[in-house]
Amino acid sequence: MWSWVAALLAGLLSAHLAQRRCFPYFWRDALFLTRVLRYGARLEFYKRSARVVTVVDRFVQQAQRIPDKPFLICDGQTLSYGALEQRSNRVARVFQRAVKSGDTVALLMSNEPDFIALWLGFCKLGCSVAFLNTNIRSRSLRHCFSCCGARLLLVGADLLEAVEDILPSLQEDGIGVWSLMRESSRPGVHSLLDKIEQASPEPVPAERRSVRCLRTPTLYIFTSGTTGLPKAAVITHLQALKAAGGFWAYGATGSDVIYTPLPLYHSAASLVGIGGTIELGATCVLKKKFSASQFWHDCRKHNVTIFQYIGELCRYLCNQPTAENEKDHRVRMGVGNGLRQDVWRGFLRRFGDIRMCEIYGSTEGNLCFMNHIGKIGAVGRSNFFYKLIFKYDLVKYDLIGDEPVRDRSGFCQHVQRGETGLLLSKICSQSPFFGYAGSKQLTEKKILRDVFVKGDAYFNTGDLMAEDEDDFICFRDRVGDTFRWKGENVATTEVTEILGLVDFIQEASVYGVQVPGNEGRAGMAAVIVRPECTFDGKKLFNHVLKELPSYARPLFIRLQESLEMTSTFKQQKFALVESGFDPRSISDPLFFLDFSEKSYLPLTSSVYDSIVSGQRKV
Ligand SMILES: *[C@@H]1O[C@H](CO)[C@@H](O)[C@H](O)[C@H]1NC(C)=O
Repeated sequence: MWSWVAALLAGLLSAHLAQRRCFPYFWRDALFLTRVLRYGARLEFYKRSARVVTVVDRFVQQAQRIPDKPFLICDGQTLSYGALEQRSNRVARVFQRAVKSGDTVALLMSNEPDFIALWLGFCKLGCSVAFLNTNIRSRSLRHCFSCCGARLLLVGADLLEAVEDILPSLQEDGIGVWSLMRESSRPGVHSLLDKIEQASPEPVPAERRSVRCLRTPTLYIFTSGTTGLPKAAVITHLQALKAAGGFWAYGATGSDVIYTPLPLYHSAASLVGIGGTIELGATCVLKKKFSASQFWHDCRKHNVTIFQYIGELCRYLCNQPTAENEKDHRVRMGVGNGLRQDVWRGFLRRFGDIRMCEIYGSTEGNLCFMNHIGKIGAVGRSNFFYKLIFKYDLVKYDLIGDEPVRDRSGFCQHVQRGETGLLLSKICSQSPFFGYAGSKQLTEKKILRDVFVKGDAYFNTGDLMAEDEDDFICFRDRVGDTFRWKGENVATTEVTEILGLVDFIQEASVYGVQVPGNEGRAGMAAVIVRPECTFDGKKLFNHVLKELPSYARPLFIRLQESLEMTSTFKQQKFALVESGFDPRSISDPLFFLDFSEKSYLPLTSSVYDSIVSGQRKV
């Protein structure tokens, strides 16, 4: 009898150990998938039932369930679920006759509570809302209007001057302009605050917001095109609901306090952040603008447990001077994307054991990855079951031709496991792509056709990824963020990461410059030296010699006080690339890699001339 029990126990133990060894992530994967499937089942239920529950419906439900719970904390002001419900009702009352279901209105506002009151208010009237990027002006701003067909513009009090120059043309087009002020002195601009305050807080009939299909557009969110004008991604109720499940899938609960320092006009803050807060019935601390010096203070003050990030934001936090109490906080989770390995490690070392949860997915895309294991450097995790839900593929990409490699019959080719390829996501009823408003052409440009068989269609993410042996998915590069040197491809993100490991380098931006007489582009890095440090050419030389293959070593270094950023904190490289490495036209200190001296030495005009004339080999 006992030997039987012992044998059983031994068997169980070895099975357990085998599972630990062969499938170390089994239980965590299973748990995560169960969550995803549960959420998916709910959406499927909405899709099939006549009664569709949208994010706004969820908000109304929460406001009935927990009216006194703080929903939003912003600039010292706390609004409960009930208070925001009433405020959005007032908004709906003001406009209930001015707009009808299906109309589009545009919001041009910074992060403030009324952004959300207006968003919810117009949704209660069955309108779609376009979130305008507060950094764009004149021509681009007008363009945003025309592509989503907005009939009204609502402008924050702090942004009225931004629309000054397009006011006459808006009026010509019959677009009503409302500003969030008590009174307006400008002709043709209505004041809104006074009207909101006078309006009744009673809800408008729920039929006004009811939708029959989850695939009706509810928002337009603009994504920056790499060139040219912004594109309006169509966000349907379905996508809004999916994004709102992000925190939940990572195990967040209603007792969490979520810190959002990102702009609301992006999908991360609005769909994942606010939508996710609503879904959980949690509290959101909304920051008008990210501040690295106030970040931890804010977190302590409000007992923040989850924060939203983009990679650069974590880097800025790491670059702050160290403080004694920097591990003293309750933040347990960060949710965002673009966190690079070096920053990730540094962040954990300094600020303690915080679970960093990467979410990969573009605003308009039909695919999403989540790194629920928290493996440093990975954006997501896949497995057999995940591939049943999300049909994605990595295909070979030609960096010079800047297009996917096609075989003789014209089809794309899968990459080997571990190899980098272009990420494509199949467009089908399970994962539809709704495209960009007002432009069939732009939509079509993101779709790749006849990929594996005639007639199929894939969403082209424009991202180069690799999937490793353990099913982790790692971001490698954006298409276009690579250059070729000595017949090899150099991924700028990779070089940037290596440079970031040098102790005196605070930040680096890597790009390729043309050197006369050479094919391709030579590596160059714009570098910010840490405040209390000096540039050490020998040390940097030894580091890149050791860490980088010869073709990837930056030949030129340019010291800068600051790096130009786009509005989403991405490095702006175009101007750097254009200005090259001529010391006569660049006032920043320049250095070049000198093998004979085993160091980076100052790049003088005579050195420059010898390189350009080909006397000095590079
Ligand atoms: C944060 O938590 C502490 C301890 O539980 C509590 O005393 C304090 O009131 C909380 N602060 C806020 C803003 O909720």
